[in-house]
Amino acid sequence: MLTQKPTINYGLEGIYVDESAISKVDGQNGRLWYRGYSIEELADKSNFEEVSYLLIYGKLPTKTEFDEFVMKLKDRTGLPDEVKRVIRKMAPIAHPMDIMRTATSMLVMYDKDPNNRDLESTVDKIITLLAKLPSIAAAIGRFREKKRYIEPDSSLNLSENFLYMLTGRRPNKFEGKLIDLMFILHAEHSTNASTFSVLVTASTLADVYAATTTGIGTLKGPLHGGADEAALNMIKAIGDPDNTEKYIEEALEGKQKIMGFGHRVYKAYDPRAKLVRSYLEESLIKEPTDEVRRLLQIALRAEKLMIEKLGKSKGIWPNIDFLAGPLYRVLGIDSKLFTPIFVASRMSGWGSHIVEYWNNNKLVRPLEYYTGPLDVPYKPIELRQ
Ligand code: ACO
Repeated sequence: MLTQKPTINYGLEGIYVDESAISKVDGQNGRLWYRGYSIEELADKSNFEEVSYLLIYGKLPTKTEFDEFVMKLKDRTGLPDEVKRVIRKMAPIAHPMDIMRTATSMLVMYDKDPNNRDLESTVDKIITLLAKLPSIAAAIGRFREKKRYIEPDSSLNLSENFLYMLTGRRPNKFEGKLIDLMFILHAEHSTNASTFSVLVTASTLADVYAATTTGIGTLKGPLHGGADEAALNMIKAIGDPDNTEKYIEEALEGKQKIMGFGHRVYKAYDPRAKLVRSYLEESLIKEPTDEVRRLLQIALRAEKLMIEKLGKSKGIWPNIDFLAGPLYRVLGIDSKLFTPIFVASRMSGWGSHIVEYWNNNKLVRPLEYYTGPLDVPYKPIELRQ
């Protein structure tokens, strides 16, 4: 037995749990690479399908490999009727992330061999999830507004098809570029809370659907993926751009956290946020609705103030979740759907980590230091007060 309290790394801060060749986050310099390719180059030259292929297979596809991958995805974007029924039933009552988790979990029913962990079968399950999660997110959005389900349009790419299935309108060039960029930037981010939770479940040799469902549960929290919805709620609460500075100053004085700022690893400007920032300014020029204009103006003023107050001095910079919300509003997406979109795009990262981890699986089982008493005498219930 330990006589001395061991060093405990709360929240696993600073602990390496594995080796990985999937992505590299350089928190000090605000850089991010997927499989060695800089996020800036991928955002400029690639697309979500190609990035997903890169993450899962570890290399960029040839034209034939890409076409085959895209074809598989397009073939699988539709949803089984039972899944649609459950989404419709839950839509008026449950949070979209709870529906996302339930509907994703249901997909195991349609897999004839869910426990097959061969590489080919694992990748096949990941492709199925990659194709269906955006459709689930879109169906949730439709049913929440009591609208009919829209069948996928195979002429569109995955992210554009998501917007189409959600709004019933084929996105224009700007919207298509923006939604695809969001999918690319949310695709992967090394072993953060949700990816780690996916790996914990995968390490028990549970199936890909179980691991993914775990990840969705973890991503929901406002300290992680849920920050995008929480950040937009704050921007909405600020209400008027002229109220921005007062609201934030008071929140900071009250020791409140400002959602969408700060990161466990980034101590510099989040490179993903940098890449979407110009879209905020461009959206302002594009004559947005009054509501969206206010959100964008508040976001830009809040960002400026927070950088002045906490950026250089404390290393608390805007993360992508702060800017994502106003941009999703530009696309007409309800804030409750922000984190489900995150799920749909993060599937490629989660999937690639499952593949990598199962190459060299080890059950995750950390230790905790017990601080309670031992050998407490048992008192029968009638003697307890
Ligand atoms: N607003 C104000 N102060 C903050 C913020 C913030 N957003 N984030 C951190 N701080 C302060 C803390 O109050 C603390 O101050 P103290 O030292 O005076 O007590 C200090 O910075 C350290 O903060 P911790 O929460 O201990 O740092 P940790 O590394 O655990 O936090 C986290 C990272 C959880 C992301 C944090 O910055 C936060 O809560 N941010 C808001 C939520 C958010 O945006 N999450 C999304 C992250 S990106 C993603 O997961 C997709």
